[in-house]
Amino acid sequence: MAVKRMWGGRFEATGAKWVEEFGASITFDQQMAEEDLEGSLAHVTMLKKTKILSASDADQIIAGLRKLQKQLEAGELTFTVENEDIHMNLEALLTKEIGPVAGKLHTARSRNDQVATDLHLYVKHRLPHVIWAIRDLQRVLVEKAEENVETIMPGYTHLQHAQPISYGHYLMAYFQMLQRDVERFEFNKHHTDLMPLGAAALAGTTFPIDRKLTAQLLDFQAPYANSLDAVSDRDFVLEFLANAAILMTHLSRLCEEIILWCSYEFGYLELDDQYATGSSIMPQKKNPDMAELVRGKTGRINGHLLGLLTTIKGLPLAYNKDLQEDKEGLFDAVKTIMPSLKVMTGMLATARVNKAKMAQATERDFSNATELADYLATKGVPFRQAHAIVGQLVLEGLKTGTTLQEIPLAKYQEIDPAIGEDVYHDLQSKVAVERRNSLGGTGFTQVRHQIEVAKHLLSQHDD
Ligand code: ARG
Repeated sequence: MAVKRMWGGRFEATGAKWVEEFGASITFDQQMAEEDLEGSLAHVTMLKKTKILSASDADQIIAGLRKLQKQLEAGELTFTVENEDIHMNLEALLTKEIGPVAGKLHTARSRNDQVATDLHLYVKHRLPHVIWAIRDLQRVLVEKAEENVETIMPGYTHLQHAQPISYGHYLMAYFQMLQRDVERFEFNKHHTDLMPLGAAALAGTTFPIDRKLTAQLLDFQAPYANSLDAVSDRDFVLEFLANAAILMTHLSRLCEEIILWCSYEFGYLELDDQYATGSSIMPQKKNPDMAELVRGKTGRINGHLLGLLTTIKGLPLAYNKDLQEDKEGLFDAVKTIMPSLKVMTGMLATARVNKAKMAQATERDFSNATELADYLATKGVPFRQAHAIVGQLVLEGLKTGTTLQEIPLAKYQEIDPAIGEDVYHDLQSKVAVERRNSLGGTGFTQVRHQIEVAKHLLSQHDD
């Protein structure tokens, strides 16, 4: 007799060891051990309440599961590949603890609804931590924005100097992106808050189970409405990965700028020593490794999303073993985004801002050309014509090394006699920034307003 596996009744032979290893998920799904025990406890409590199991059987199982919880916490449980996955490993351990009555735990349940439930619990438990970590980063962004409302730097398009902006405004742009990331993860909670348990293998069960009770015990908002859907879909994981990919993409763009700005050519920022590394050969080096790593890790999160989308796209309903591939990418995504957020928070909190270098970069760069065109437009010159005139002045200035603010008034008055001394006021970078006071613009009043709104929002989530 080759009956060794829990599902081995109809088998005559066991497979090769390496096939067994290929099929096993215990090496990674043991990360859901806590959730598996939690799910089993709720399930058996429900079986007891509905009298599907006798109180004495159920109580023995509950006591055994509680013992396993303690052992898990103490790091005393060992899992084996022979038992394939976390579900069968824990059942085997339970059997060791309490004997054959452990076999009653799986009444009215399948590994298919069990694994889906574990995964829901796993994501459900981690979502708040992800959101808290984003909030921490948002807090630092607001703090630094507040310190830098009047720090002037070049704003870029095409990585060419475009118009001067407030560094505070720049930081608040990332605050807003992260705010939407929070909202996406908040929304993710709704679809994660559904309970697959009770779908059994795919079709429900003939036992008089009470799914609403189990859902309540596990703090799920509701059971899945359709048993086939409950065991087949992983869209809540896809959502998590998509959200993680978008979050990392935001962080990656921020990192790209930090890396650029730490370079000799820019020199806008200097990272604190604890977030930089040196070179083993070049003694002068201070490399922004942590920012590069976050940028680099974005690739693998994007990969996890695409991987799971591809795994699921061709699957017929209901469960297929392909779905075992849903876990490693998810676990890795959690393991990646948490320290990435933490490193970004610390890096930004401690980075030194070279305000002089930032401001200097806007002094001779013609990024006030729009100001001059706007000035002419307010004097009645059609904007298109003003644009062309200023374009000519920039061309000349580039050839002669003269900035717009160095052009004498007489020359300006040849272009338009209405031009007055006040043009030089408007041409200052700081004034240019201050005056961009349209809603959501870089004007100081606008930036301060954004910061106030952000602080209010954060104070409502003081968790
Ligand atoms: N280890 C499996 C997984 O992660 C559990 C579900 C197995 N179900 C089955 N019918 N083979 O997907």
